[in-house]
Amino acid sequence: MLVRDPARLGDRGSQVEVVKGDLAKPETLDAAFAGVDRAFVVCASGDLSELAGNAAGAAKRADVGHIVLLSSATASDTRDYAIARWHRAAEAEIKASGLAWTMLRPGAFASNSLQWVGSIKAQGAVYQPTGDGKRAPIDQRDIAAVAVKALTSPGHEGKSYVLTGPEALSAAEQVAKISAAIGRPLRFVDVPESAAREGMEKAGLPEVFIQAVLEIHALVKAGQDELITSTVEQLLGRKARTYDEWLARYGRAFL
Ligand SMILES: NC(=O)c1ccc[n+]([C@@H]2O[C@H](COP(=O)([O-])OP(=O)(O)OC[C@H]3O[C@@H](n4cnc5c(N)ncnc54)[C@H](OP(=O)(O)O)[C@@H]3O)[C@@H](O)[C@H]2O)c1
Repeated sequence: MLVRDPARLGDRGSQVEVVKGDLAKPETLDAAFAGVDRAFVVCASGDLSELAGNAAGAAKRADVGHIVLLSSATASDTRDYAIARWHRAAEAEIKASGLAWTMLRPGAFASNSLQWVGSIKAQGAVYQPTGDGKRAPIDQRDIAAVAVKALTSPGHEGKSYVLTGPEALSAAEQVAKISAAIGRPLRFVDVPESAAREGMEKAGLPEVFIQAVLEIHALVKAGQDELITSTVEQLLGRKARTYDEWLARYGRAFL
């Protein structure tokens, strides 16, 4: 496992070897990829195509046999918006390496609701400009299970898997479920885009990221991000976990 700061990792057990490295610093990657047969690559924070290109370069030098990339459902979207462009560019870097690849393209993570922990604890409220728009949040454990499957069984090379949870929920419906789980009344407030922008500016987020998030929120609000696939079930032979199952495991974070 490549991490930027091993000191921040909890106990990973004796079977996980931890290597210090940074996908933004190609000079740190050869040591991390040495002796690796198959790699699960996650590119986050920053220029995704640069990170993916760095990973692909190091993987190629190390003769890695197969890369599974954590991409995004947005990469399958024919519409033109920033997050889709970033993920399409990252996938292109992996494909250009000539190595065998599999693209995991999840929709919204169930764990995104952890972004609400602060306002839920402080104000009993969630503020988001997504109205009644719904998404089908996927449990990160299902993404991990699909990654393991793709890395450890044959037949996944050259495939792109769009992964979602099993049910479409609005943010208000998610908040109602959190409320029931923690036994406390909570409000969902459909704030105007300007208020959401102001909140992100105050949090010091970069303008390019703010614009990209607002684009996604607008798509969700317009009901244009309500995709549900059965790919998790097809690949794993069991149903995708529901948001209730995610809450049963992680909901204590909201207490
Ligand atoms: N969240 C969603 O709903 C969603 C949906 C579809 C696709 N995705 C995609 O899935 C990927 C992961 O998303 P996320 O929301 O889990 O991202 P995240 O929470 O921002 O970051 C995931 C991990 O990436 C590590 N990381 C960041 N920069 C790194 C670097 N330069 N070198 C090595 N590790 C680095 C972080 O490590 P540290 O602990 O060191 O910070 C963190 O553990 C992204 O490509 C995202 O676009 C997300």
